[in-house]
Parts: sequence; structure tokens; C-alpha cells
Amino acid sequence: MSTLPIHFAPLQGYTEASYRNAHAAIFGGVDTYHTPFVRIDRGDFRYKDVRDIDPVNNNVPQLIPQLIAPNAELAERMIHLFIEKGYTAANINLGCPFPMLTKRHNGSGILPYPEEVKELLRVIEKFPQIRFSAKMRLGFSEASECLALAPLLNDTSLSEITLHPRLGVQQYKGDVDLKAFSAFYNACNLPIIYNGDLHTVEDIQRITERFPKLSGIMIGRGLLTNPALACEYKEGQILTSDQLKEKLQLLHNGVFAHYESQLQGGEKQLVVKMKAFWEYLAPQIDRKAWKAIHKSTTLNKYNIAIQAALTLGK
Ligand SMILES: Cc1cc2nc3c(=O)[nH]c(=O)nc-3n(C[C@H](O)[C@H](O)[C@H](O)COP(=O)(O)O)c2cc1C
Repeated sequence: MSTLPIHFAPLQGYTEASYRNAHAAIFGGVDTYHTPFVRIDRGDFRYKDVRDIDPVNNNVPQLIPQLIAPNAELAERMIHLFIEKGYTAANINLGCPFPMLTKRHNGSGILPYPEEVKELLRVIEKFPQIRFSAKMRLGFSEASECLALAPLLNDTSLSEITLHPRLGVQQYKGDVDLKAFSAFYNACNLPIIYNGDLHTVEDIQRITERFPKLSGIMIGRGLLTNPALACEYKEGQILTSDQLKEKLQLLHNGVFAHYESQLQGGEKQLVVKMKAFWEYLAPQIDRKAWKAIHKSTTLNKYNIAIQAALTLGK
């Protein structure tokens, strides 16, 4: 059966370079990885964003850096950074729901203002050497917002639009609205990628059957919960629990080795950082072991807990 390209969604705090690199090496199945957004904070780039997109720190088949900005002027500064780092593609965030950002018309906060979206998207024409895509929600407070934007978006040379069918005000609550997704899918002439709440191969197949014109699938939390999901979809074969645990051990080791060499805040900081690695993995491991990981405060306790979590045959 033919499959669609799989995009690993950007997840700030989870899919940083070390995770992406280890995921690509150990699980694969993902065609394109996306970086969490780069933003300008009090007039400057955040060091961690610049380090995260630097090609010397990245080793995946295809990586697209993402920017978030309320206007073309700030976006341009980030595009110059991407060009300096050798990128030829960029993703524009029109979906972030965090109130700190949306109140300044960043992310989904810009969606109710077509004139501002138009001004921001002027960067597309300004940098013809860059292949721009956008990642958006249905709207900030109304699903009609994306429909009002469709003619304007159709007039751009965006290569693709990823749509997550929730509103900004919902953040991650409530169900995805597939009826509203369908309305935008019909109104938009650009290639569309579906994103939202896909956790199993059947979930992916249900969406690709319902929306046959999709150009790709983007998965975030579903891949954090089952890092094998993309390769299971591509290869049509589900890993056994032991096969998954063996690969999780390798994924863990790759991420752990990176943070061990990077973090200078001692073992406490290392343990805190590694807890994020396990956050979405609860369904794959023993409940008691998962709790022990989250309670651990020393490296010793952490290591004991993860060995229990990854014991085969359980
Ligand atoms: C903790 C967290 C961080 C996120 N960071 C970003 C981000 O930096 N850029 C972005 O476009 N979306 C971000 N998202 C949204 C995801 O990329 C994705 O659109 C959303 O989780 C829905 O897809 P999913 O159900 O497959 O996870 C984030 C989501 C979460 C939960």
C-alpha cells in the first residue's frame, strides 16, 4: 500500500536536536523533522534556538527550521539566520496557542487578522530561494478564521500548509474538528498536511482515506508515545513490546549521552531533563516503573527505575 510522507511535529522541550538525531538513527520512518520555533526574545535570538538549528548539531534526513513572528520584519531576521545556516526551507508558525505569544499576535494569535497575516507572508516573495510552508490551526477563537484566510493563502507560493484542526483558545483540549478541517481542505488549493491526535497506524489510515488529497501527515505526541509509529505505518508491521523496549533503550541512551555531555547543572538537572523523555512513554512501560522515574531525584535512583522500565518480557 502506498504511504504518505511523515513529518515529525515540532514539540518545544521534547524534540530537540539530540532527540531528533537519535530518533532518526534508531526508529526512522520519518521523512521530515521540524524544529521547535525560533523566536526573537527581547530583541535577540535565544542561544538554545540557534544551537538547536545549527547543522553541525543535526543529523536527520530532512530538517526544516520553524519561526514564529507577528510581522515580516522580525520574520526576516530569522530567515537571514536560517540562510546563514544553509537552510533552503522554512516553516512559519501560525498555530501556537500559548497566551504569552498569542496576545502579541504570534502563532494562532494572528489568525483573526488577515491583513497582518498578509503582511507577515510578504517574506515569501522576498526570499524566493526559500521554500516556505506554514503550520496553522483552524483559527484563534473561530473556525471561520481559516476560511477567511484561504483566498489569501491560495495567492501565496507556500509549498504546503499543515493544519491542526483545533482553535488557539482550545490549546490541546477538546476533540479535533474534522468537519472544519474538511471545509479548509476544500477551500485551500495548496498541498495540505494533516496534524492532530494520531496515535496508531489505523488513525493515520482513517485520515488518509477520508482526505485522499493530503500531501503528508504530521505527528507529534503520537510519536513521542510510540516512537515506532512512523516506521510501523511505512513498513506495515507493528513492533512487539520487547522490540520496542530494545529500541527505546537505544533512543534513551542517545539522548542521555547528549545531555550528560552538555548539561552543566549536575545530576539533578540531568534527571529533570530526562524525565521529559519519559513523559509521553507511560503506555509503553510498567506503571510502577514510570512513577519511579518521575519520583527519582538522583541519577542512581533514575538508573534503577529505567532498568525496571525497560526489562524485557514484562
Ligand atoms: C509541549 C508542546 C510543544 C509544542 N511546540 C511546538 C512548536 O514549537 N511549534 C509548533 O508549530 N507546534 C508546537 N506544538 C504543537 C505540535 O507540533 C502539534 O501541532 C500538536 O501537538 C498536535 O499534534 P499531535 O496531536 O500529533 O501532537 C507543541 C505541542 C506541545 C504539546
